[in-house]
Amino acid sequence: MENKSGEGKQHIPLLSPYEMGNFQLSHRVVLAPLTRQRSYGNVPQPHTILYYSQRTTKGGLLIAEGCGISDTAHGYKDTSGIWTYEQVEAWKPVVSAVHAKGGIFFCQLWHTGRVSSKDFQPNGQAPISCTDKPSKPLICSDVRDVAQFPPPRRLRTDEIPQIVNDFRLAARNAIETGFDGVEIHGAHGYLIDQFMKDQVNDRTDQYGGSLENRCRFALEIVEVVVNEIGGDRVGIRLSPFADYMDSGDSNPSALGLYMAESLNKYGIAYCHMVEPRMKTLGEKVECPESLIPMRKAFKGTFIVAGGYDRGDGNKAVLEDRADLVAYGRMFIANPDLPRRFELDAPLNKYNMETFYTSDPVVGYTDYPFLETTI
Ligand SMILES: Cc1cc2nc3c(=O)[nH]c(=O)nc-3n(C[C@H](O)[C@H](O)[C@H](O)COP(=O)(O)O)c2cc1C
Repeated sequence: MENKSGEGKQHIPLLSPYEMGNFQLSHRVVLAPLTRQRSYGNVPQPHTILYYSQRTTKGGLLIAEGCGISDTAHGYKDTSGIWTYEQVEAWKPVVSAVHAKGGIFFCQLWHTGRVSSKDFQPNGQAPISCTDKPSKPLICSDVRDVAQFPPPRRLRTDEIPQIVNDFRLAARNAIETGFDGVEIHGAHGYLIDQFMKDQVNDRTDQYGGSLENRCRFALEIVEVVVNEIGGDRVGIRLSPFADYMDSGDSNPSALGLYMAESLNKYGIAYCHMVEPRMKTLGEKVECPESLIPMRKAFKGTFIVAGGYDRGDGNKAVLEDRADLVAYGRMFIANPDLPRRFELDAPLNKYNMETFYTSDPVVGYTDYPFLETTI
């Protein structure tokens, strides 16, 4: 098959096969984790089966939306979870549908920490964090449900192992559900990132202060999850350069590099990093920083995300700056994104207005496939 520019599939870097540990990927176009807020009452719904199935290709890697690991993990309405029996059962048909089409499916494990409010917490309690400083009110127009954040409750040192253990149990649930692996959500200003970033973490115990101490929580989670399900089934997502939810760091390059190096000892499947150019969730700003030092330091599969299109995704793979490229907004709007990249076909435009609305169809499963548009 040739595309419109006459390149065969084998000459399109994004469409070349890749071996990620035991997983044989047929191409490198990954579905990024995407919260869609259509899991009513935190339980995935039948419409989610179609949504993921539409985005599945044989040998393609999909990362599911962030799934809460416990009843304190949520910060938004109708986000999915993976800590109850009901949630596990409801995910099963979604995973089966992805597997039926030959996809490889990882579940993103999420705790929002202080990016939550009493409305989402058991008994209306304060959300938990590494700190008791609240995040500044949200100024991001495309995230709707939480505008103001109450002061969180600072976790006591002796409570931290329980949260680490919640990640382990959620990972076990994900495997029980049938997921091929889990991605630990260490990005975007949520709980793990709150611990890592020096502009949030003001602890004085062994989880605060030095870079090593701030990364301890993340690495303890990696360790227990690896011990529970095996390193080949574990990935982590990090965004050292982003300061979403008021979570900046004074030296993001050192943080990213320390994590990339430290992760090597756990033999995990992949490290997934968000590009420094994603200064805000919705905008790409060119900047001098780069993920190349982390790419070089990390020995496993390196996934990049953030503002990629077909051209620079191909370039990143060709220049060995990444093994795989995750696509978010383009994949929302183009369920057949890998096929469109193969053919260099035009893309549907995404509609931000329906990213987080709760309709089971509109803006979710009604984006047209190429076959139906030409
Ligand atoms: C609607 C929406 C939901 C998102 N949900 C998540 C999420 O659950 N977990 C996560 O790590 N990132 C999430 N992100 C970030 C995306 O995974 C991705 O990194 C971001 O959209 C930048 O990539 P893009 O330029 O290809 O869209 C979300 C982004 C959008 C637009």
